[in-house]
Amino acid sequence: MKTLLCGGAGYIGTHVAMAFLERGDEVGIFDNLSSGLRTNLHKSSRFFEGSILDRAALDAVLSEGWDVVIHLAAFKAAGESMLDPAKYAQNNISGSLNLIASCAEHGIRRFILSSSAAVYGEPAYLPIDEKHPTRPENYYGYTKLAIEENLAWFATLKGLRYVSLRYFNAAGYDPSGKMTGLERNPANLIPVVMEVASGMRSKIQVFGDDYATEDGTGVRDYVHVTDLADAHVRAADHLYHGRDCVIVNLGSETGLSVRQIIDATRRITGRPIAEETVGRRPGDPAKLVASSAKAKEILGWQSRYSDLDTIIESTWRVYEPLARKNG
Ligand code: WQD
Repeated sequence: MKTLLCGGAGYIGTHVAMAFLERGDEVGIFDNLSSGLRTNLHKSSRFFEGSILDRAALDAVLSEGWDVVIHLAAFKAAGESMLDPAKYAQNNISGSLNLIASCAEHGIRRFILSSSAAVYGEPAYLPIDEKHPTRPENYYGYTKLAIEENLAWFATLKGLRYVSLRYFNAAGYDPSGKMTGLERNPANLIPVVMEVASGMRSKIQVFGDDYATEDGTGVRDYVHVTDLADAHVRAADHLYHGRDCVIVNLGSETGLSVRQIIDATRRITGRPIAEETVGRRPGDPAKLVASSAKAKEILGWQSRYSDLDTIIESTWRVYEPLARKNG
């Protein structure tokens, strides 16, 4: 299969690219390197440097003909999206519409979207399945919902077929150790805890310990990025075999608290991790856990690497060399 990954130089995209290359696909990567890294690019993929805001650049690449387009090019900081919605509207919505329109124009009919659990907002019930109401509480989540809605319109009007993958909290690194490119300025829990363990930061701030959860800290569903990558391959095959448009959750179906993550990181790294409990972060739900039954049923997908220890060990392998550098 000839597969194009928009945003294929980012944290999730590089893992997805690896999964497609490993099974022998011809892989193209379109990325503006705004957060992605040149060092993340696999030698056996073709790289097209460009932005999804540049319609002419997109047209040039898409006119080559691709069996499937995977769209991972987006800003993803929910907090920032509330302060600068225009930035998220432009890149995530306008850029995605450029890409979808260019696919339609060039007869590319198979499309996979990186969507997010952020489309659901505050959970009305747990575990969250795909029938859960979509009431995003941050603008980032709204942008993902807006793209999903446009995909549904293009499916009806232009025969586009798509799979939307609603990731819960992506975490971990390739367990075979092939990926080394770290995200710049991370804000998510696990990379921040890793920065503390490796001496790049002095302490972790725990955003609230008075939630109605077992230990009072926030609970999330962490899903290993290698499991996410596998779901994209399955989604591509699903579309290739002419099957229907589908929206699925991707999660481990297990809730882990902030405290469990910090404690496991202390145990696995053997490093002290200083922490300070501060107030809750606005907009953070107490608990998010996925039902991934639909992904299992329709894509035959099941998480294999999303247990706590594999997530922390595979991430530590990438941070440990920095820890040695920092003494
Ligand atoms: C996890 C838990 C925090 C940092 C975000 C986006 C979401 C999705 C994934 C893209 C929470 C706590 C965190 C810290 C802490 N993005 N925490 N101290 O907020 O669940 O999801 O990333 O699709 O849209 O909102 O992830 O890793 O930031 O937080 O205590 O320094 O860790 O309160 O309970 P989140 P996170």
